[in-house]
Amino acid sequence: MPYSYQTDEELEASTNRWMLVGVVLLALMAAVFPFYRWYEPSARTEAREAQAVALAAEGGSVWQTSCSSCHGVNGEGAIGPALNSKQFLQSATDAQAGTLIAVGIPGTQMNAYSLDHGGPLTSEQIRSVVAYIRAWEPDAPDVPEWRAMLGG
Ligand code: HEC
Repeated sequence: MPYSYQTDEELEASTNRWMLVGVVLLALMAAVFPFYRWYEPSARTEAREAQAVALAAEGGSVWQTSCSSCHGVNGEGAIGPALNSKQFLQSATDAQAGTLIAVGIPGTQMNAYSLDHGGPLTSEQIRSVVAYIRAWEPDAPDVPEWRAMLGG
């Protein structure tokens, strides 16, 4: 007898059972994956929207404390431009508005607001106030001369 081994019926049956369980689990995971793919983007969109809402809420308090005295409680303008203007909101990107707020406009009453430029606001607070301003856009009034109060 050149080669012989003992067979263990019970071990073999148990191995086959577990292999079957493995195959079934694999098939289940493969079947569930498309649902995950379908669900994931909407979960991400919701998270992004929730973050924008939270950011804009924080921005509201920054606006009232630091900006409303010159730009108006609702952005309608006072000694500073009317930032609720549809024309302003359409012409400025978030990045442009954020930079302008961070750095200010030298030689005017529009100060630099970022900590880096000697102002009081963190970059998170600047992002939040930009989100707050941006949230006006859907209902923004027509104010083509949003800098009119500056006399120029
Ligand atoms: C002391 C008054 C004052 C305060 C406070 C103030 N601003 Fe201004 N802001 C101005 C004036 C004046 C200008 C216009 C400067 C110019 O171009 O002559 C201006 C311009 C701007 C502009 C550019 C508008 C445009 O037409 O391009 C933005 C954006 C802006 N301010 C945002 C803010 C935000 C956000 C805050 C609060 C963090 C703020 N400002 C606080 C006076 C102020």
